[in-house]
Amino acid sequence: MELPQVPSNDSSAADQQLNDPVARINVIVADITALDPEIGIDAIVNAANESLLGGGGVDGAIHRAAGPELLEHNRTLGGCPTGLAKRTPAFGLEKQGIRHILHTVGPVWSGTADTGVPGAPGDDTAKLGYTHEDNLLASCYTQVLALALEHNVRHLAIPAISTGVYRFPKPRAARIAFGHAHGHLLRSGLPQRITFVCFSDEDASNYHEAINTRGQWMMSRGRV
Ligand code: APR
Repeated sequence: MELPQVPSNDSSAADQQLNDPVARINVIVADITALDPEIGIDAIVNAANESLLGGGGVDGAIHRAAGPELLEHNRTLGGCPTGLAKRTPAFGLEKQGIRHILHTVGPVWSGTADTGVPGAPGDDTAKLGYTHEDNLLASCYTQVLALALEHNVRHLAIPAISTGVYRFPKPRAARIAFGHAHGHLLRSGLPQRITFVCFSDEDASNYHEAINTRGQWMMSRGRV
């Protein structure tokens, strides 16, 4: 498969910067429905539920910002299973330059899940990638990134999926998010950039920690 080339700028340093996955990943603290258009986000991810008919948290905010047309459209989609993703138009968010909303349904963290790995604990002490929820959350990221590539998204904004109402441990979720974003960007020129949009400085610190310590945990990562 011919991968879309990342447009190269004049200097090789710029090419290097664009081709380095870490340099193509940003972390900001913001409301994902009120991003500075200067950032150039053209698609946002929604942390939805399986109905795709809205809810609280980031899902509620996105539905409010996109307007009632989004709900009307989503009624025709037949929902979305946990771990998968569906693309919709941005409706009312188009005025902010956003062309796509990528809805994905994260897992609810139970913390006692059967890891399926003999002897491995199912709680937050389990090795990354060794719980059922880890693999479902990982699937959310790979699915939205595949949709971003399919729809030629250049700059994707992603909230901290599953870490609110669904109670996924935030540091663990940040590692899964960064690990899969990094893996995708190693293989693909699109999206050119990914911005993780956190709702607090504390939440953002989990992503910075995951990025700054990636040498320690990414090599030893489990099945994810
Ligand atoms: N912008 C960016 N991040 C936000 C926003 C926002 N406007 N609102 C909430 N967040 C953050 C939360 O602080 C949390 O870190 O998004 C993360 C995900 O939290 P939730 O929105 O609660 O999503 P999730 O944990 O995946 O639970 C999904 O909640 O809202 C319902 O309908 C949704 O049933 C689904 C469930």
